[in-house]
Amino acid sequence: MNLLVRNATLPDGSTGVDVLAQGGRIVAVGPHLSAPEGTPVLAAEGHLLSPPFVDAHFHMDATLSHGLPRVNQSGTLLEGIALWGELKPLLTQEALVERALQYCDWAVAKGLLAIRTHVDVCDDRLLAVDALLHVKAQVKPYLDMQLVAFPQDGVLRAPNALVNLKRALDRGVDVVGGIPHFERTMADGAESVRLLCEVAAERGLRVDMHCDETDDPMSRHIETLAFHTQRLNLHGRVAGSHLTSMHSMDNYYVSKLIPLIAEAQVHAIPNPLANIVLQGRHDTYPKRRGMTRVPELMAAGVTVAFGHDSVMDPWYSLGSGDMLEVAHMGLHVGQMTSQAQMRACFDAVTVNPAKVLGLEGYGLGVGCHADFVLLQASSPVEAIRLRATRLAVVRRGAVISRMPASTATLTLPGRSSEVDWSLRR
Ligand code: FE2
Repeated sequence: MNLLVRNATLPDGSTGVDVLAQGGRIVAVGPHLSAPEGTPVLAAEGHLLSPPFVDAHFHMDATLSHGLPRVNQSGTLLEGIALWGELKPLLTQEALVERALQYCDWAVAKGLLAIRTHVDVCDDRLLAVDALLHVKAQVKPYLDMQLVAFPQDGVLRAPNALVNLKRALDRGVDVVGGIPHFERTMADGAESVRLLCEVAAERGLRVDMHCDETDDPMSRHIETLAFHTQRLNLHGRVAGSHLTSMHSMDNYYVSKLIPLIAEAQVHAIPNPLANIVLQGRHDTYPKRRGMTRVPELMAAGVTVAFGHDSVMDPWYSLGSGDMLEVAHMGLHVGQMTSQAQMRACFDAVTVNPAKVLGLEGYGLGVGCHADFVLLQASSPVEAIRLRATRLAVVRRGAVISRMPASTATLTLPGRSSEVDWSLRR
Protein backbone atom coordinates (compact mmCIF):
# COMPACT_ATOMS: atom_id res chain seq x y z
CA MET A 1 0.00 0.00 0.00
CA ASN A 2 1.07 3.59 -0.65
CA LEU A 3 0.78 6.40 1.87
CA LEU A 4 2.22 9.84 2.50
CA VAL A 5 2.43 10.90 6.14
CA ARG A 6 2.62 14.67 6.23
CA ASN A 7 4.29 16.83 8.91
CA ALA A 8 5.18 14.35 11.65
CA THR A 9 7.42 14.63 14.68
CA LEU A 10 9.69 11.61 15.07
CA PRO A 11 10.90 10.00 18.32
CA ASP A 12 14.40 11.46 17.72
CA GLY A 13 12.86 14.93 18.01
CA SER A 14 12.98 15.90 14.34
CA THR A 15 9.93 17.88 13.25
CA GLY A 16 8.17 18.68 10.01
CA VAL A 17 9.02 15.25 8.61
CA ASP A 18 7.14 13.53 5.79
CA VAL A 19 7.25 9.76 5.34
CA LEU A 20 6.44 8.18 2.00
CA ALA A 21 5.44 4.51 1.78
CA GLN A 22 5.16 2.53 -1.43
CA GLY A 23 4.34 -1.16 -1.65
CA GLY A 24 4.14 -1.35 2.12
CA ARG A 25 7.73 -0.15 2.66
CA ILE A 26 9.18 3.25 3.50
CA VAL A 27 10.82 4.74 0.40
CA ALA A 28 11.58 8.27 1.59
CA VAL A 29 11.79 10.26 4.83
CA GLY A 30 12.31 14.01 4.85
CA PRO A 31 10.73 17.45 4.61
CA HIS A 32 8.23 18.38 1.91
CA LEU A 33 8.18 15.09 0.03
CA SER A 34 6.18 14.78 -3.14
CA ALA A 35 4.15 11.67 -3.86
CA PRO A 36 2.63 10.22 -7.01
CA GLU A 37 -0.85 11.44 -7.89
CA GLY A 38 -3.54 9.66 -5.90
CA THR A 39 -1.33 8.63 -2.96
CA PRO A 40 -3.44 8.70 0.24
CA VAL A 41 -2.28 11.32 2.76
CA LEU A 42 -2.25 10.98 6.53
CA ALA A 43 -1.97 14.47 8.07
CA ALA A 44 0.13 14.10 11.22
CA GLU A 45 -0.23 17.81 12.09
CA GLY A 46 2.98 17.78 14.11
CA HIS A 47 2.05 14.76 16.22
CA LEU A 48 4.49 11.99 17.13
CA LEU A 49 4.93 9.24 14.55
CA SER A 50 6.53 6.17 16.08
CA PRO A 51 7.26 2.66 14.92
CA PRO A 52 4.56 0.43 16.44
CA PHE A 53 4.64 -0.82 20.01
CA VAL A 54 6.05 -4.29 20.60
CA ASP A 55 5.26 -6.49 23.60
CA ALA A 56 8.15 -8.83 24.41
CA HIS A 57 6.27 -10.87 27.02
CA PHE A 58 2.64 -11.93 27.09
CA HIS A 59 0.39 -14.89 27.88
CA MET A 60 -2.23 -14.96 25.15
CA ASP A 61 -3.55 -18.39 26.11
CA ALA A 62 -4.82 -16.93 29.39
CA THR A 63 -5.82 -13.45 28.32
CA LEU A 64 -9.38 -12.13 28.73
CA SER A 65 -10.32 -15.16 30.83
CA HIS A 66 -11.06 -12.92 33.83
CA GLY A 67 -13.84 -14.49 35.89
CA LEU A 68 -13.39 -17.98 34.42
CA PRO A 69 -14.22 -20.10 36.27
CA ARG A 70 -14.00 -17.50 39.05
CA VAL A 71 -12.18 -14.28 39.92
CA ASN A 72 -8.80 -14.23 41.71
CA GLN A 73 -10.08 -12.78 44.99
CA SER A 74 -6.71 -12.18 46.66
CA GLY A 75 -4.89 -10.93 43.57
CA THR A 76 -1.86 -13.03 44.51
CA LEU A 77 0.46 -15.11 42.33
CA LEU A 78 -0.36 -18.30 44.23
CA GLU A 79 -4.13 -17.92 43.79
CA GLY A 80 -3.48 -17.04 40.14
CA ILE A 81 -1.52 -20.28 39.59
CA ALA A 82 -4.27 -22.28 41.35
CA LEU A 83 -6.93 -20.56 39.24
CA TRP A 84 -5.05 -21.30 36.00
CA GLY A 85 -4.96 -24.95 37.09
CA GLU A 86 -8.75 -24.86 37.52
CA LEU A 87 -9.28 -23.17 34.18
CA LYS A 88 -6.99 -25.36 32.03
CA PRO A 89 -9.24 -28.45 31.91
CA LEU A 90 -12.17 -26.23 30.90
CA LEU A 91 -10.41 -24.57 27.95
CA THR A 92 -11.66 -25.16 24.44
CA GLN A 93 -9.83 -24.31 21.28
CA GLU A 94 -12.70 -22.18 20.01
CA ALA A 95 -12.84 -20.07 23.18
CA LEU A 96 -9.03 -19.65 23.21
CA VAL A 97 -9.04 -18.48 19.60
CA GLU A 98 -11.94 -16.10 20.19
CA ARG A 99 -10.32 -14.48 23.24
CA ALA A 100 -6.92 -14.20 21.56
CA LEU A 101 -8.43 -12.58 18.47
CA GLN A 102 -10.33 -10.13 20.66
CA TYR A 103 -7.08 -9.24 22.43
CA CYS A 104 -5.34 -8.76 19.08
CA ASP A 105 -8.09 -6.26 18.16
CA TRP A 106 -7.39 -4.37 21.38
CA ALA A 107 -3.65 -4.49 20.63
CA VAL A 108 -4.02 -3.14 17.10
CA ALA A 109 -6.18 -0.26 18.31
CA LYS A 110 -3.40 0.60 20.78
CA GLY A 111 -0.71 0.51 18.08
CA LEU A 112 0.71 -2.77 19.37
CA LEU A 113 1.64 -4.71 16.23
CA ALA A 114 4.05 -7.38 17.47
CA ILE A 115 3.65 -9.67 20.47
CA ARG A 116 5.82 -12.46 21.85
CA THR A 117 3.46 -14.73 23.74
CA HIS A 118 4.29 -17.69 25.91
CA VAL A 119 2.02 -20.69 25.47
CA ASP A 120 1.68 -23.38 28.12
CA VAL A 121 2.86 -26.75 26.75
CA CYS A 122 2.19 -28.86 29.86
CA ASP A 123 -1.21 -30.02 28.60
CA ASP A 124 -0.77 -33.24 26.58
CA ARG A 125 -3.48 -32.09 24.16
CA LEU A 126 -1.43 -28.99 23.19
CA LEU A 127 -4.79 -27.30 22.84
CA ALA A 128 -3.44 -23.80 23.45
CA VAL A 129 -0.50 -24.38 21.10
CA ASP A 130 -2.79 -25.28 18.22
CA ALA A 131 -5.16 -22.42 19.05
CA LEU A 132 -2.39 -19.80 19.10
CA LEU A 133 -0.72 -21.17 15.96
CA HIS A 134 -4.10 -20.72 14.27
CA VAL A 135 -4.40 -17.18 15.64
CA LYS A 136 -0.83 -16.36 14.57
CA ALA A 137 -1.65 -17.28 10.98
CA GLN A 138 -4.96 -15.43 11.07
CA VAL A 139 -3.56 -12.12 12.38
CA LYS A 140 -0.37 -12.21 10.29
CA PRO A 141 -1.56 -9.49 7.87
CA TYR A 142 -1.82 -7.00 10.72
CA LEU A 143 0.10 -8.31 13.74
CA ASP A 144 3.32 -10.30 14.18
CA MET A 145 3.02 -13.02 16.80
CA GLN A 146 5.95 -15.00 18.11
CA LEU A 147 5.19 -18.06 20.25
CA VAL A 148 7.30 -19.38 23.13
CA ALA A 149 6.94 -23.02 24.21
CA PHE A 150 6.44 -22.47 27.93
CA PRO A 151 6.49 -25.40 30.37
CA GLN A 152 4.48 -23.57 33.04
CA ASP A 153 4.74 -26.42 35.57
CA GLY A 154 8.48 -27.00 35.06
CA VAL A 155 10.13 -28.89 32.21
CA LEU A 156 11.62 -31.41 34.66
CA ARG A 157 8.92 -31.21 37.32
CA ALA A 158 5.88 -31.85 35.15
CA PRO A 159 5.33 -35.21 33.43
CA ASN A 160 5.76 -35.11 29.63
CA ALA A 161 6.73 -31.43 29.68
CA LEU A 162 9.95 -31.88 27.68
CA VAL A 163 8.27 -34.17 25.17
CA ASN A 164 5.38 -31.74 24.80
CA LEU A 165 7.73 -28.78 24.47
CA LYS A 166 9.49 -30.51 21.56
CA ARG A 167 6.13 -31.46 20.02
CA ALA A 168 5.13 -27.79 20.19
CA LEU A 169 8.38 -26.74 18.49
CA ASP A 170 7.77 -29.37 15.80
CA ARG A 171 4.37 -27.77 15.15
CA GLY A 172 5.92 -24.37 14.54
CA VAL A 173 6.31 -22.66 17.92
CA ASP A 174 9.19 -20.23 17.53
CA VAL A 175 11.05 -19.90 20.82
CA VAL A 176 12.19 -22.21 23.65
CA GLY A 177 10.83 -21.23 27.08
CA GLY A 178 11.48 -22.41 30.62
CA ILE A 179 10.85 -21.69 34.29
CA PRO A 180 13.95 -22.81 36.22
CA HIS A 181 12.94 -21.28 39.58
CA PHE A 182 9.81 -23.46 39.57
CA GLU A 183 11.72 -26.74 39.26
CA ARG A 184 11.97 -28.83 42.45
CA THR A 185 15.54 -27.85 43.36
CA MET A 186 18.12 -25.24 42.43
CA ALA A 187 20.09 -28.05 40.77
CA ASP A 188 17.08 -29.07 38.67
CA GLY A 189 16.57 -25.43 37.75
CA ALA A 190 20.15 -25.19 36.49
CA GLU A 191 19.77 -28.49 34.64
CA SER A 192 16.57 -27.23 32.97
CA VAL A 193 18.44 -24.16 31.71
CA ARG A 194 21.20 -26.35 30.30
CA LEU A 195 18.94 -28.76 28.47
CA LEU A 196 16.57 -26.10 27.14
CA CYS A 197 19.43 -23.98 25.81
CA GLU A 198 20.76 -27.09 24.09
CA VAL A 199 17.36 -27.75 22.52
CA ALA A 200 17.40 -24.18 21.19
CA ALA A 201 20.98 -24.45 19.92
CA GLU A 202 20.23 -27.73 18.11
CA ARG A 203 17.19 -26.25 16.40
CA GLY A 204 18.61 -22.77 15.75
CA LEU A 205 15.91 -21.14 17.89
CA ARG A 206 15.76 -18.27 20.33
CA VAL A 207 15.34 -18.73 24.09
CA ASP A 208 13.10 -16.79 26.47
CA MET A 209 12.82 -18.12 30.00
CA HIS A 210 10.72 -17.03 32.91
CA CYS A 211 13.76 -16.65 35.11
CA ASP A 212 13.95 -15.96 38.84
CA GLU A 213 10.40 -14.60 39.15
CA THR A 214 10.72 -14.70 42.91
CA ASP A 215 11.81 -12.49 45.80
CA ASP A 216 14.42 -15.09 46.83
CA PRO A 217 17.81 -13.41 46.40
CA MET A 218 19.43 -16.84 46.04
CA SER A 219 17.46 -17.59 42.89
CA ARG A 220 20.36 -17.09 40.48
CA HIS A 221 19.31 -18.97 37.35
CA ILE A 222 20.04 -15.89 35.25
CA GLU A 223 23.74 -16.57 35.93
CA THR A 224 23.31 -20.10 34.52
CA LEU A 225 21.33 -18.73 31.57
CA ALA A 226 24.14 -16.29 30.75
CA PHE A 227 26.70 -19.10 31.11
CA HIS A 228 24.96 -21.47 28.67
CA THR A 229 24.27 -18.61 26.26
CA GLN A 230 28.01 -17.98 26.21
CA ARG A 231 28.91 -21.69 26.01
CA LEU A 232 26.53 -22.43 23.14
CA ASN A 233 27.26 -19.22 21.28
CA LEU A 234 23.66 -18.04 21.49
CA HIS A 235 24.63 -14.38 21.93
CA GLY A 236 21.78 -11.96 21.25
CA ARG A 237 19.24 -14.79 20.91
CA VAL A 238 18.41 -15.34 24.59
CA ALA A 239 16.17 -13.39 26.96
CA GLY A 240 15.57 -13.65 30.68
CA SER A 241 12.02 -12.65 31.55
CA HIS A 242 11.03 -11.13 34.91
CA LEU A 243 14.41 -11.50 36.73
CA THR A 244 12.72 -10.13 39.86
CA SER A 245 15.09 -11.84 42.31
CA MET A 246 17.80 -9.46 41.12
CA HIS A 247 15.94 -6.73 43.01
CA SER A 248 16.68 -8.55 46.27
CA MET A 249 20.19 -9.79 45.52
CA ASP A 250 23.31 -8.66 47.28
CA ASN A 251 24.89 -5.67 45.52
CA TYR A 252 28.33 -7.25 45.43
CA TYR A 253 27.02 -10.33 43.63
CA VAL A 254 25.07 -8.17 41.16
CA SER A 255 28.25 -6.24 40.36
CA LYS A 256 29.60 -9.54 39.00
CA LEU A 257 26.32 -10.74 37.47
CA ILE A 258 25.35 -7.79 35.26
CA PRO A 259 28.64 -7.81 33.31
CA LEU A 260 28.11 -11.56 32.68
CA ILE A 261 24.61 -10.83 31.31
CA ALA A 262 26.01 -8.06 29.12
CA GLU A 263 28.89 -10.23 27.90
CA ALA A 264 26.50 -12.99 26.80
CA GLN A 265 24.19 -10.38 25.23
CA VAL A 266 21.23 -11.82 27.15
CA HIS A 267 18.23 -9.51 26.94
CA ALA A 268 16.16 -8.58 30.00
CA ILE A 269 12.36 -8.46 29.98
CA PRO A 270 10.87 -6.95 33.14
CA ASN A 271 7.08 -6.91 33.49
CA PRO A 272 6.39 -3.91 35.69
CA LEU A 273 2.58 -4.01 35.84
CA ALA A 274 2.31 -7.63 36.90
CA ASN A 275 5.35 -7.83 39.14
CA ILE A 276 4.72 -4.68 41.15
CA VAL A 277 1.55 -6.35 42.39
CA LEU A 278 2.67 -10.00 42.51
CA GLN A 279 6.09 -9.67 44.17
CA GLY A 280 6.92 -8.63 47.71
CA ARG A 281 3.78 -10.32 49.03
CA HIS A 282 5.60 -12.07 51.87
CA ASP A 283 7.06 -8.78 53.08
CA THR A 284 5.66 -6.66 55.88
CA TYR A 285 7.25 -3.19 55.61
CA PRO A 286 9.28 -2.07 53.79
CA LYS A 287 7.86 -4.03 50.84
CA ARG A 288 10.20 -4.82 47.99
CA ARG A 289 9.41 -3.83 44.44
CA GLY A 290 8.78 -6.55 41.90
CA MET A 291 11.08 -5.25 39.23
CA THR A 292 14.62 -6.10 38.25
CA ARG A 293 17.44 -3.52 38.15
CA VAL A 294 16.49 -1.77 34.94
CA PRO A 295 18.68 1.38 35.06
CA GLU A 296 21.77 -0.66 35.97
CA LEU A 297 21.12 -3.22 33.20
CA MET A 298 20.59 -0.44 30.67
CA ALA A 299 23.76 1.32 31.82
CA ALA A 300 25.69 -1.91 31.21
CA GLY A 301 24.41 -2.03 27.64
CA VAL A 302 21.84 -4.82 28.14
CA THR A 303 18.77 -4.56 25.91
CA VAL A 304 15.79 -4.11 28.24
CA ALA A 305 12.25 -4.57 26.92
CA PHE A 306 9.19 -4.08 29.11
CA GLY A 307 6.46 -6.72 28.77
CA HIS A 308 2.74 -6.53 29.56
CA ASP A 309 2.68 -10.16 30.78
CA SER A 310 -1.04 -10.35 31.55
CA VAL A 311 -4.34 -8.69 30.69
CA MET A 312 -7.57 -9.74 32.40
CA ASP A 313 -6.40 -13.23 33.34
CA PRO A 314 -5.92 -15.32 36.52
CA TRP A 315 -2.89 -13.27 37.54
CA TYR A 316 -3.91 -9.72 36.67
CA SER A 317 -7.43 -8.32 36.50
CA LEU A 318 -6.47 -5.09 34.74
CA GLY A 319 -4.80 -3.96 31.51
CA SER A 320 -5.89 -3.11 27.97
CA GLY A 321 -2.93 -3.83 25.68
CA ASP A 322 -1.53 -0.35 26.26
CA MET A 323 2.28 -0.50 26.15
CA LEU A 324 2.45 3.17 27.20
CA GLU A 325 0.78 2.13 30.46
CA VAL A 326 3.49 -0.53 30.81
CA ALA A 327 6.22 2.06 30.16
CA HIS A 328 4.54 4.45 32.61
CA MET A 329 4.62 1.86 35.39
CA GLY A 330 8.18 0.77 34.55
CA LEU A 331 9.35 4.37 34.68
CA HIS A 332 7.80 4.88 38.12
CA VAL A 333 8.83 1.59 39.69
CA GLY A 334 12.41 2.05 38.45
CA GLN A 335 12.50 5.71 39.55
CA MET A 336 13.61 6.45 35.99
CA THR A 337 12.79 10.13 35.97
CA SER A 338 15.91 11.64 34.40
CA GLN A 339 15.20 12.96 30.91
CA ALA A 340 17.35 10.23 29.34
CA GLN A 341 15.76 7.48 31.43
CA MET A 342 12.19 8.55 30.61
CA ARG A 343 13.14 8.51 26.95
CA ALA A 344 14.69 5.05 27.43
CA CYS A 345 11.35 3.78 28.78
CA PHE A 346 9.77 4.59 25.40
CA ASP A 347 12.50 2.54 23.68
CA ALA A 348 11.69 -0.29 26.11
CA VAL A 349 8.26 -0.71 24.47
CA THR A 350 9.33 -0.04 20.86
CA VAL A 351 12.84 -0.57 19.45
CA ASN A 352 14.19 -2.72 22.30
CA PRO A 353 11.50 -5.43 22.15
CA ALA A 354 11.73 -5.34 18.35
CA LYS A 355 15.41 -6.26 18.77
CA VAL A 356 14.55 -9.00 21.28
CA LEU A 357 12.04 -10.53 18.85
CA GLY A 358 14.43 -10.08 15.92
CA LEU A 359 11.76 -8.30 13.87
CA GLU A 360 12.75 -7.74 10.27
CA GLY A 361 12.22 -4.28 8.76
CA TYR A 362 11.26 -2.56 12.01
CA GLY A 363 11.80 1.18 12.29
CA LEU A 364 11.35 4.47 10.49
CA GLY A 365 14.26 4.21 8.05
CA VAL A 366 14.07 3.86 4.28
CA GLY A 367 13.46 0.18 3.46
CA CYS A 368 11.63 -0.59 6.71
CA HIS A 369 8.05 -1.81 6.72
CA ALA A 370 5.57 1.08 6.63
CA ASP A 371 4.22 0.26 10.10
CA PHE A 372 3.53 3.22 12.39
CA VAL A 373 1.45 4.58 15.20
CA LEU A 374 0.48 8.25 15.22
CA LEU A 375 0.21 9.48 18.79
CA GLN A 376 -1.54 12.54 20.16
CA ALA A 377 1.70 13.73 21.72
CA SER A 378 4.68 15.84 20.75
CA SER A 379 7.43 13.59 22.18
CA PRO A 380 8.03 10.09 23.54
CA VAL A 381 8.00 11.35 27.12
CA GLU A 382 4.70 13.17 26.56
CA ALA A 383 3.31 10.00 25.02
CA ILE A 384 4.13 8.13 28.24
CA ARG A 385 2.80 10.93 30.44
CA LEU A 386 -0.56 10.98 28.67
CA ARG A 387 -0.73 7.31 27.63
CA ALA A 388 -1.44 9.19 24.42
CA THR A 389 -4.37 8.54 22.14
CA ARG A 390 -3.50 6.46 19.08
CA LEU A 391 -4.81 8.77 16.39
CA ALA A 392 -3.95 6.30 13.62
CA VAL A 393 -2.29 2.92 13.28
CA VAL A 394 -0.66 1.98 9.98
CA ARG A 395 0.36 -1.50 8.82
CA ARG A 396 2.30 -1.97 5.58
CA GLY A 397 1.20 1.48 4.44
CA ALA A 398 -2.53 1.01 5.14
CA VAL A 399 -4.38 2.80 7.95
CA ILE A 400 -5.92 -0.04 9.99
CA SER A 401 -7.21 1.85 13.03
CA ARG A 402 -8.25 5.39 13.83
CA MET A 403 -9.21 7.04 17.08
CA PRO A 404 -10.51 10.59 17.61
CA ALA A 405 -8.27 13.02 19.48
CA SER A 406 -8.76 13.07 23.23
CA THR A 407 -10.13 16.44 24.33
CA ALA A 408 -12.58 17.71 26.91
CA THR A 409 -15.04 20.53 26.50
CA LEU A 410 -15.25 22.73 29.58
CA THR A 411 -18.07 25.08 30.48
CA LEU A 412 -16.18 27.45 32.78
CA PRO A 413 -16.70 31.20 32.78
CA GLY A 414 -13.89 33.08 31.05
CA ARG A 415 -11.76 30.03 30.24
CA SER A 416 -10.99 28.31 26.97
CA SER A 417 -13.45 25.52 26.35
CA GLU A 418 -11.13 22.88 24.86
CA VAL A 419 -8.63 20.96 26.97
CA ASP A 420 -6.21 18.48 25.43
CA TRP A 421 -3.61 18.10 28.24
CA SER A 422 -0.61 19.19 26.16
CA LEU A 423 1.61 21.94 27.53
CA ARG A 424 1.52 24.91 25.17
CA ARG A 425 4.24 27.59 25.38
FE1 FE2 B 1 5.07 -14.35 32.28
